[in-house]
Amino acid sequence: MTTIDEMLDALWRDYVAQAPQALRIHRLLGERGERVRNDHIALRTYGLPGIGISALAAPFEAHGWQRRDRYRFDDKHLIAYYWQHPDPLRPKVFISELCVSEMAFGTQQIIDRLVAQLPRDFGARADLPWAGRPWQIKRAEYETMILGSEYAAWVGAFGFRVNHFTVDVNHLTTFPDLQSLDAFLVEHGFRLNDAGGAIKGTRAECLEQSSTRADSIAVEFSDGTLEIPSCYYEFAKRHRLPSGELFQGFVPASADKIFESTDRK
Ligand code: NI
Repeated sequence: MTTIDEMLDALWRDYVAQAPQALRIHRLLGERGERVRNDHIALRTYGLPGIGISALAAPFEAHGWQRRDRYRFDDKHLIAYYWQHPDPLRPKVFISELCVSEMAFGTQQIIDRLVAQLPRDFGARADLPWAGRPWQIKRAEYETMILGSEYAAWVGAFGFRVNHFTVDVNHLTTFPDLQSLDAFLVEHGFRLNDAGGAIKGTRAECLEQSSTRADSIAVEFSDGTLEIPSCYYEFAKRHRLPSGELFQGFVPASADKIFESTDRK
C-alpha cells in the first residue's frame, strides 16, 4: 500500500499537471519564505454505484481519514461530505457527487455511455482519486452536459482527480489575512473567482475562502481538442468558534459559489 505522503504526492503531481497556476503560486509563496500547508483537497464524481462518494473515499479511509459532516447543494444537484485525519497536519478531504437522477434525460444518457466504458471493479482501485479520465468522450457530449451542469461536464472531461488543493492561510506567516493574500495574487497576475465576491464567507461564519479561476487547458476528446477550464487553487482562512476551537467544517453557501471556479462562462 502507498504511504500517505506518496498518495498526497501523486494527487499533487496529477493536479498541477492540470493546473500549472497552482505550481506557480506554490513557488511564489515558497520564494517569500512560506511553507505551504493544505487545508483541504476536493474531489468530484458521479453519484452512481461503485464510483460515488464512498468509492472515492475508500483510499483515504484506508489511510485513517474519518468521515464528518454531510452537505447538500440543491441548485447544483450535489451532495458532499468531508473527512478529517487524526493528524491535524493532514489536509481534510472534501468529496462531492452529482445526483445523476436529477439531471436532464440527455445528460443521464451521456453519463450512462461514459460509465458503461469502465472496466469491472474500476471503482475499487486504490489509486481511484488520481485515476484520471477512464472513458472516451466526444466534444458534443461535453457541450451538451455543460448546458445542464458545469459539474457533470467537468467530471466527464477530467474524470477522477483532485479538483483543487486549498492553501491553509492560517499557517502562512507573511499574510495577516485572506485579503492580503488575494491582493498579492492579483498583483502577480492571477484571476480570482469573483462569483459572490472574491471572498466567500465571513469571520462570523468562521471560514473565509477565495479561489483562482481555473486554468484553461487543451483537453483531448475522441473527436478533437477543446480548451476548457480544468482545476483551480483555493485559499482558506479559519476562525474560532465561540467554544474557542478552530472551525473545521464548511459553509454551504460559500462552497456553492466556489464550485463555479471551473465554470466556462
Ligand atoms: Ni474547497
